Amino acid sequence: MEKIVVEQSPGLKGEISVSGAKNSVLKILAASLLAEGPCVIEDVPDLLDVRAMIDLLRALGSKVDYYPEENKIITEVVDPSITVAPYELTNRMRASIVVLGPLLARRKRANVSLPGGCPIGARPIDLHIKGFRTMGYTVTTDHGYVEGYVDGVISGGQVYLDFPSVGATENIMMAAVMANGTTTIFNAAQEPEITDLANFLTKMGASISGAGTSIIRIKGVRQLIGVHHQVIPDRIEAGTYMVAAALTKGQVLIKNVLSTHLRPVISKLEETGVIIEERGDALFVDASAGFSGVDITTLPYPGFPTDMQAQFMVMLCVAEGIHSIKETVFENRFLYVNELMRMGAKIKVDGSSAMISGVDHLEGAQVRSTDLRAGAALILAGLVATGTTEVFEPQHIDRGFVAIEDKLRGVGANIRRVKE
Ligand code: EPZ
Repeated sequence: MEKIVVEQSPGLKGEISVSGAKNSVLKILAASLLAEGPCVIEDVPDLLDVRAMIDLLRALGSKVDYYPEENKIITEVVDPSITVAPYELTNRMRASIVVLGPLLARRKRANVSLPGGCPIGARPIDLHIKGFRTMGYTVTTDHGYVEGYVDGVISGGQVYLDFPSVGATENIMMAAVMANGTTTIFNAAQEPEITDLANFLTKMGASISGAGTSIIRIKGVRQLIGVHHQVIPDRIEAGTYMVAAALTKGQVLIKNVLSTHLRPVISKLEETGVIIEERGDALFVDASAGFSGVDITTLPYPGFPTDMQAQFMVMLCVAEGIHSIKETVFENRFLYVNELMRMGAKIKVDGSSAMISGVDHLEGAQVRSTDLRAGAALILAGLVATGTTEVFEPQHIDRGFVAIEDKLRGVGANIRRVKE
């Protein structure tokens, strides 16, 4: 059994370099299924989810050369006849569902096994399916598979999303790039990863306007070609290390960031009293004077990210006074709270809200990571807890954080991975 062992580590100091964005690269790799010729993707983070997507692309007829030491992938479709994404591959990662759009667009047929259950919420794909149908695709779900095909002309359409779903926006955008007409997505998600995907598709020859706003227009084109692309930095990884610096009252330079993508996180940290200085493509986080509590509501971008909720929870656990977190994106994203309570945190969860009464200190304990962001948050808690914290099931964390223990050790954290 593997675990990450963390000892109390006050005052982190030094530099951490942020890797490429997981939630960008996964969609960009899926989009490579649309291209004729090779795509070269740079700044690819070495993550379990990336490896799962590579296996899925290979199963779908792509030749994928992965160079993890260079953070690079070269991929090219060699057999475009495959249209089935089987359960063994899609159940490793929910993001697998984004191959549906590219398969429908380029291969005119797709049969993708629905990803399995997810601890943070039900995560249906009804909005994806509604969008495909509006464009003209025929889509059914049967025996755990979602099957789509082209029966007639894909003329595009006006797609309204009831919620600005990231995955639905991306899937619909990719399903629309080779349509015969124009598709407009209203109430589209505005996350930076959507803009990165749109930039990649545009380089390939797609005609997309409005990505990064709530209305995206996609005019279908005949052909897309392989291109070179560098993935944007991971704003959630960056935010997680910013919180690590804040929590430990440290001074850390977070390198390779796009500060505009981090605006909601920067603003909330500044509200706690932490000083953040922009230095080109780096952010210097100075929490030597400590921090106070804040209230948080998670929202779609540019609101405060749900993927940073657990990390801020740890700050509020040790901040003075009573504060609240309201989770509005996923219905079950407080599972990890029980683990923090085992470390001495005082948290009351009522549906989608949590009230946190700050305690003087947390105590090290054996805890289990329930999802990847929560797992990282438990490591952060270990950095300020007295004694030793052991975080079990670190494979969740490895899905989304590159070498988290090495990066934290580089700024002075007492942390190691133990394989028993
Ligand atoms: C993406 O998930 C990210 N994953 C998530 O990051 C992130 O938390 C989330 O966006 C929100 O920012 C990837 O990009 C791989 P959604 P996604 O569709 O696309 C509901 C991480 O830790 N919904 O915006 O699945 C859904 O149930 C992960 O890296 C429907 O009801 O998120 C949820 O409550 C976790 N019907 C809400 O919308 C649909 O058809 C937001 O989901 C689609 C979504």
